[in-house]
Amino acid sequence: MLETTSHNPLTAGLSHTLLPEPCSIVIFGGAGDLSRRKLVPALYNLMLDGLLPAGIAIVGFARTDLDDARFRQLARAGIEKHSRRPLEEPAWSAFEKRLFFVRGPFGEASSYADLAKRLEAIEPGCGVPGNRIFYLSVPPSAMGTCVEGLRGAGLVRAGAARPFSRIIVEKPIGRDLASAQALNDGLAASFREDQIFRIDHYLGKETVQNLLVMRFANAIFEPLWNHKYVDHVQITVAEEEGVGTRAGYYEEAGALRDMVQNHILQILCLTAMEPPWTLSADVVRDHKLEVLSCLRSISGSDALRSVVRAQYGSGVHRGVEVPGYRREPNVRPDSVTETYVAIEAYIDNWRWAGVPFFLRTGKRMPRRASEIAVQFKGVPPILFNADAASPLEANVLALRIQPDEGISLRVATKLPGPKVRIFPVKMDFRYGTTFGEQSPEAYERLLLDVMAGDATLFMRRDAVEASWRWVTNILEAWEDAATRWLPEYSAGTWGPLEAEKLIQSPLRNWRTP
Ligand code: BG6
Repeated sequence: MLETTSHNPLTAGLSHTLLPEPCSIVIFGGAGDLSRRKLVPALYNLMLDGLLPAGIAIVGFARTDLDDARFRQLARAGIEKHSRRPLEEPAWSAFEKRLFFVRGPFGEASSYADLAKRLEAIEPGCGVPGNRIFYLSVPPSAMGTCVEGLRGAGLVRAGAARPFSRIIVEKPIGRDLASAQALNDGLAASFREDQIFRIDHYLGKETVQNLLVMRFANAIFEPLWNHKYVDHVQITVAEEEGVGTRAGYYEEAGALRDMVQNHILQILCLTAMEPPWTLSADVVRDHKLEVLSCLRSISGSDALRSVVRAQYGSGVHRGVEVPGYRREPNVRPDSVTETYVAIEAYIDNWRWAGVPFFLRTGKRMPRRASEIAVQFKGVPPILFNADAASPLEANVLALRIQPDEGISLRVATKLPGPKVRIFPVKMDFRYGTTFGEQSPEAYERLLLDVMAGDATLFMRRDAVEASWRWVTNILEAWEDAATRWLPEYSAGTWGPLEAEKLIQSPLRNWRTP
């Protein structure tokens, strides 16, 4: 594997040593939404940045009736609409030559034989030495078939063999612990764990990666990062949009499966993990797994006390009346799928003993905003904090993941004037202001890492199953409760009253990010 020899802080990433290798990327579901909106634009931007390896072929693979020319048109439209940077003709004409399409249903052996033949034909001209990445952008029910098809056609090379075969799997990886295990078993029958890249696109976001840099490249935070100084932590992933056109999927998922099992628990791991002694993939992932292993299980009646779920009702979004969840297209009128969830969680280890982690996510909230906020304990009740009736506001370190990426620290200051009056101010760092240019999209970073064989930002099997184990307890408690109605929050608000009660104490409130 290629290694960079000198340390360049601008190109060094979290794992920073591996370089992307020439390869073919086969996108299963290449005509689909994810491919057009995210994957193809991400690859195009990587090319603009000169980060793609010189040898590259991008092959859409699906049953859709397309050929190379029409796939290229589709890709172009996707870039025009969704790319971080605009389409430039000379760059596009170089890029499109690397795009191909193979048509075939996933359930038929002949599709994979066609795919194999086509890859053999195009790779020499594209400078690809036979390395292949298979990106499964397909529903979980189709994954087993795709893996079987690849294996049957001899398209999977074993373990560390060269040229390499790698597989990328999109979420949802199962819908509970048992189905996740079955899916992972299916993958393991054909691929070794280090060939499998389970994507959680939140891990590719700049600010999520910055969490480790913040914690471990600065001297001032880590000494405070524990139960002695931290009062509680809030992790919020708020979305403005409703369920949109995805009700078919979402009705079966809900916020706990869709957002908590993966994105929020991954953020929690990075926030709470012990310092890894190296940034190699397995060491980082071992340390993340420890957090999941220490998460206090929430089951039975605890789930009804420590977890709030709710559904958005009708309301106003950007000045327009919008329907409640149960009235969205393709949603059952008596649906009890949660569009909001808030959880009081505890990590029972030495560092975090007794510190609540409040997690929340919801659709149709007032705005899109994701952040991690660490609220520190108050100062002793003497001097400026002596008045019990109006305690000082605590210090809060907030890491904004999106959209306005940055970091802010709330500190108490003296209001100018003859009296001593305390006023909380915010010290603010904004990515946009400091670094100017737009951060790369999560998929850019993640695709590059797969080409380099770096799994640091991908979920290992044990972590996926550990988070499902925790989430499945809650799901089972909900199932036992057999609720026929969920609390509602009006579209465009920050969630139900029940969630306020979950957190409320004199010094604790949900933040308004
Ligand atoms: C996806 C969920 O994983 O993440 C969606 O399935 C959600 O429901 C999306 O909207 C949010 O991602 P982002 O990057 O827009 O915050």
